[in-house]
Amino acid sequence: MDAFLAINQQGWDNRTELHLESDFYDLPGFMAGNTSLREIELAELDVAGKHLLHLQCHFGQDTLSWAREGAASVTGLDLSPKAIAAANHIAAELKLDDKASFVCGNVLDARELVQGEFDLVYSSYGVLCWLPDLATWARTIAACLKPGGEFYLAEFHPVKALLDGYDYFYTGQADVEQGGSYTENSREAENTLVSWSHDMGELVSALIRAGLVIESLREYDFSPYNCFENLVEEEPGRYRQRLEGKPIPMVFSIKARKPEC
Ligand SMILES: C[S@@+](CC[C@H](N)C(=O)[O-])C[C@H]1O[C@@H](n2cnc3c(N)ncnc32)[C@H](O)[C@@H]1O
Repeated sequence: MDAFLAINQQGWDNRTELHLESDFYDLPGFMAGNTSLREIELAELDVAGKHLLHLQCHFGQDTLSWAREGAASVTGLDLSPKAIAAANHIAAELKLDDKASFVCGNVLDARELVQGEFDLVYSSYGVLCWLPDLATWARTIAACLKPGGEFYLAEFHPVKALLDGYDYFYTGQADVEQGGSYTENSREAENTLVSWSHDMGELVSALIRAGLVIESLREYDFSPYNCFENLVEEEPGRYRQRLEGKPIPMVFSIKARKPEC
């Protein structure tokens, strides 16, 4: 497993260099004050006054956007040292480093890597497929939450992954792939990444078994990102794919709470 982790760390270091310069991530716009958050998570979350832990934060745009939205503190964690170095640099440039901190490491080690318990653990868009094991992941989230704290995930739908040729069901088998990235400046890169498929039942069961209470599970027929081939922007910022004329599920969000006692 350490070998897979090392491959993904290198792969995400490579992607980070590309992403920092991409129109997709629009770093100049972000530095000028734009939020990187999308309509789904903005509508579903209120972070005011909360201590937030962002797992798999990439180079921190969403983490810092939540700080701008009024979180009391934000902590981002990611596997890629290049992403974390960029996140720290951006936070300092924006003078948000008094309430933002970033930690480099494996999300499955988050409990050992960050201090304290959080009001909100957040993760979004393109995170589950890099994890071999959702049971440990869910227990880690529960351990990072204070009693009464909330977990929120917005993620691409596993049905979309199925239509793109991946397994729908969790098989435990690692999928090792070479390719570019989802940003417009992606080259035919000799980048290798390792991923795993995770079905909805596995995800929900992992959270329940970790002691969390599921409060909502919503499915969306659009992606807020134009990050797959052949999507059509049918409304501003809403990218759809249709199957026999019917929109497919593109994204889901889940809220779960750690019981008070
Ligand atoms: C698609 S990006 C997440 C994008 C996110 N929505 C954002 O804010 O831009 C996936 C992130 O997961 C990170 N990652 C992959 N495997 C990880 C692991 N085992 N532990 C921590 N982070 C990991 C990658 O480094 C990458 O930054």
